[in-house]
Amino acid sequence: MKIDILTLFPAMFDGFLTESIIKRAIHNKQVEINIINFRDYSLDPHKKVDDYSYGGGAGMVLMPQPIFDCLDAIKTDDSYVILLSPQGITHTEQMAYTLTKKKHLIFICGHYEGFDERIRSCADLELSIGDYVLTGGELASMVITDSIVRLLDGVITTESHIKDSFHNNLLDYPVYTKPVEFRGMKVPEVLLSGHHKKIEEWRYQEQIKRTKERRPDLLEKR
Ligand code: ADE
Repeated sequence: MKIDILTLFPAMFDGFLTESIIKRAIHNKQVEINIINFRDYSLDPHKKVDDYSYGGGAGMVLMPQPIFDCLDAIKTDDSYVILLSPQGITHTEQMAYTLTKKKHLIFICGHYEGFDERIRSCADLELSIGDYVLTGGELASMVITDSIVRLLDGVITTESHIKDSFHNNLLDYPVYTKPVEFRGMKVPEVLLSGHHKKIEEWRYQEQIKRTKERRPDLLEKR
């Protein structure tokens, strides 16, 4: 899979691309991620990318030209363009799975007060990561990219996906490691029993209990 991220702040991605699982997935060629500064596509002599809003109002608005020209240069028949904005539909684990099937994702990160409405016309999908407003789409693009890349074949072991919160609309069961007792808190006896069937059943019951307590809305979706 190839992912191109259009941004005015490429340095925000430095740590994201050079640490942990994303770094390894890039190294192993399971994903190619390019950070593209769309200011480079501005035809303005001063490389301007934004201007005042027609009709007045505070703040600067991203102009369509640099983004349209950038997309013209990088888009192919395999591309799927995602605009990041708090007005998009909310990202979910199910959406992350759906997006793993695309060959080429292009994320557009807005910034400043907003973007010219005509930019919406070049997106196949508008996505939000939640009902709050960020200073730009960069963090959202990293969150969504991370949720997709970890699902790509071979990036992490498949068993981990099956255990994931939200797989089957259930939250994860509790896990423990050494020591057996820590500051008076003990590992549940069943986990030390070596009885695999009982452990499996206990874990499933804990998932149900936890989901009922914390996210009853998920149980209704099952
Ligand atoms: N840009 C600003 N806020 C955002 C959000 N919540 N999700 C995606 N992109 C954004």
